[in-house]
Amino acid sequence: MMFPEYRPRRLRRSEALRAMVRETELSPDHLIYPLFACPGRGVREPIGSMPGIFQSSVDQIVEEAARVSDLGIRAVLLFGIPEKKDEQGSHAWLPSGIVQQAVEAIKKQVPGLVVITDVCMCEYTSHGHCGIIHGHRKGKGIEQPLDVQVDNDATLEMLQKVALSHARAGADMVAPSDMMDGRVGAIREILDENGFDHIPIMSYAVKYASGFYGPFRDAAECAPQFGDRRTYQMDPANSREAIRETMLDLEEGADIIMVKPGMPYLDIVQMLRQEFNLPLAVYQVSGEYSMIKAAAMNGWLDEESVVRESLLSFRRAGADLIITYFAKDFAKALS
Ligand code: PBG
Repeated sequence: MMFPEYRPRRLRRSEALRAMVRETELSPDHLIYPLFACPGRGVREPIGSMPGIFQSSVDQIVEEAARVSDLGIRAVLLFGIPEKKDEQGSHAWLPSGIVQQAVEAIKKQVPGLVVITDVCMCEYTSHGHCGIIHGHRKGKGIEQPLDVQVDNDATLEMLQKVALSHARAGADMVAPSDMMDGRVGAIREILDENGFDHIPIMSYAVKYASGFYGPFRDAAECAPQFGDRRTYQMDPANSREAIRETMLDLEEGADIIMVKPGMPYLDIVQMLRQEFNLPLAVYQVSGEYSMIKAAAMNGWLDEESVVRESLLSFRRAGADLIITYFAKDFAKALS
């Protein structure tokens, strides 16, 4: 009888051995926790489709930020639900807007926490699209499937105003998620002109038109009122296009590149890791969160172990940073 010389399972026989040869590390250092700021005082409104996640007024969000920081998480990603929406999304760049207020309050009371702001118009426009729209047909009777045409260049000017207002409020980093062409360059330019050349840009460079954003659109109240986002977000059938999108954003000055959603696009994360050297982030989006939560609440999955496994898969694929609604749960389970 012949025995193989080398039996790798010898290195799996105890946790000590497993830990010594583990290839991938996972710690709260890598995690970014999304927060939703809403108007009012004392508001902590649960989001139905995302158990455990809330819309919080500024006073509450500060407390939440402090808890997040105490758990060893380094950064939050801020979204805002404005008092009022209009066609232009003008509340997005108000100096006293909801995100601006939340940034200021968090930076004052939890100064060590990195505050990243989402830069997009969809939470602020009455039609729910990520940019300015001209001459759309309002749905009358049966809604026609129509391709929404966003005015790319007009939107860039708005995004500049939004990013600048976030930087002025004290944001540590801005994260444009709108997918307009040229937005990274436009934002870089306005920030540099105004003395914010030290503020990095994390670009949602590779953002697919995904059904997994469903629960987020409840959370941020930004579901499109007609049409969909396929004219500006990426086609899930494409992967080579991800390289082109990334190259364009890099040329325009992006500091961190993001892939979104996460688990259905691990191949893209791995591909970008191999092609590029800069820090790579992945967004485990709302639908991914809700799927795991729902299964766990039914007793069909063990939440702690699948969360850990999903986060490890991002790190294994090559992501440096993970934006995840599980950040707090994961960090709590560690402590
Ligand atoms: C839009 C934006 C979306 C998300 C982050 N920024 C939604 C969309 O494009 O429809 C989704 C995040 C998630 O699903 O958790 N600016």
